[in-house]
Amino acid sequence: MEITFYGHACFSIKTKGKTILFDPFISPNPKAKSVDVNKLTPDYILISHGHEDHLADAETIAKKTNATLVSNFEIVTWYQQKGVENTHPMNIGGSWKFDFGMVKYTNAIHSSMLPDGSYGGNPGGFLIKNEENSFYYSGDTALTMDMKLIGNSEKLDFAVLPIGDNFTMGIDDAIIAAEFINCNKVIGVHYDTFGYIEIKHKEAIEKFKAKGKELILLNIGEKMLM
Ligand code: NI
Ligand code: MN
Repeated sequence: MEITFYGHACFSIKTKGKTILFDPFISPNPKAKSVDVNKLTPDYILISHGHEDHLADAETIAKKTNATLVSNFEIVTWYQQKGVENTHPMNIGGSWKFDFGMVKYTNAIHSSMLPDGSYGGNPGGFLIKNEENSFYYSGDTALTMDMKLIGNSEKLDFAVLPIGDNFTMGIDDAIIAAEFINCNKVIGVHYDTFGYIEIKHKEAIEKFKAKGKELILLNIGEKMLM
């Protein structure tokens, strides 16, 4: 699996010949100016919840590439009404076998209003597994005891967790989350984009290290083999 970070909570995974893009928020993000949205050619777009900073570019990319948009039922319905053709609705606790692997839509403690005020269903995250890797992207969430269920049932290779605090978990809770999900390799997202969520990189990495865990902070555009 190859992961590419596009800033904020947007990243893509390349696996089994497919590209899966998560939470596209690129063109409104001044920090992601180096990323050309038009060059992204995902096969799937996975959206964790209805907030602008997780879906701003989803409609444009979906219409241009015919990628299949996967999210909760309410968000998928909203996109169908906008004319997005390929969609797959899910809801919390449900799994589906896609051609790139299994996807489970997991619980998150957050909110999920869509940009026009429409109801965005319950916010979630994604547990993804195939022959190459097993990983968990929590989406925007607080630390939750439900994460223990993931740690008990899955052997994760890595996790993508928000660490910016204020709107989601901060560093300390993300370390506990990593313990709950039983995973020592964490890619941090949802930090530095706005003033509310700026973090001290070195301090964050040291805090994870002190608990025997690795925090990876990718540069925007950076790729990493997992
Ligand atoms: Ni959010
Ligand atoms: Mn967010």
